Amino acid sequence: MSQKVTLTIDGRQVQAEAGTTLLEAARSVNIQVPHLCSNEELAPYGACRMCMVEIRHGQRTRLVASCIYEVEEGLEVQTATERVLNVRRLVIELLLARNPTHPTLLKMAADLGVDKTRFEVEVKGCILCGQCVRTCREVVGVSAIGFEGRGTTRRVTTPFNEAPPDCIACGACAQICPVDVIPLKEKDGIRTIWKTDYPLQRCESCGRLIAPVKQLEYFSRITNQPLSHFTEHCVHCR
Ligand code: FES
Repeated sequence: MSQKVTLTIDGRQVQAEAGTTLLEAARSVNIQVPHLCSNEELAPYGACRMCMVEIRHGQRTRLVASCIYEVEEGLEVQTATERVLNVRRLVIELLLARNPTHPTLLKMAADLGVDKTRFEVEVKGCILCGQCVRTCREVVGVSAIGFEGRGTTRRVTTPFNEAPPDCIACGACAQICPVDVIPLKEKDGIRTIWKTDYPLQRCESCGRLIAPVKQLEYFSRITNQPLSHFTEHCVHCR
């Protein structure tokens, strides 16, 4: 049986399952903590630091990332002290330096009273939340993309910046990206992602486009079903 822990968040007593995070505990009682790199489908990561909160142990307080810090019996948590808000303002400025135009970031910045950034970085667009890399590995089960470089030149890319041999063109990375910076397009039966063209398979019964051939081949491999199982009838024909 799961063990319950009682803690206080913004003065409210909250019961949470041991092993869950402060972010989850706050969410369970409708206390909103801004977050960017955390996703329920992925393992805790703690990259963006947007979800910082202040915790108190006796007389001592400190800041922790709520998406990776686990609930503790008797813990006192404050989600919006001036110290917390100042850290979030700094974090959003750093994120705006990477991506100054995305509505999600602009909304978060506005909520914090931030309207511009003092920082400048070389690589624009990606905010390095890592959700694409983690989704590719943890959810899809391949490792087509990864991080390269450090500091202001750090970015997500394919091995050796070439067509990624492990990519199945499923598009999960583009879909999960919170700032929409992974281009995916489809034209004339071809899906293009990571600067590589992948032919789309047509349903053998009705001729509709189903999915990239590589993705269906991958499904066939991991399910031990013949490829024809995925190509003979699309969802519409079934
Ligand atoms: S959401 Fe917690 S560090 Fe990004």
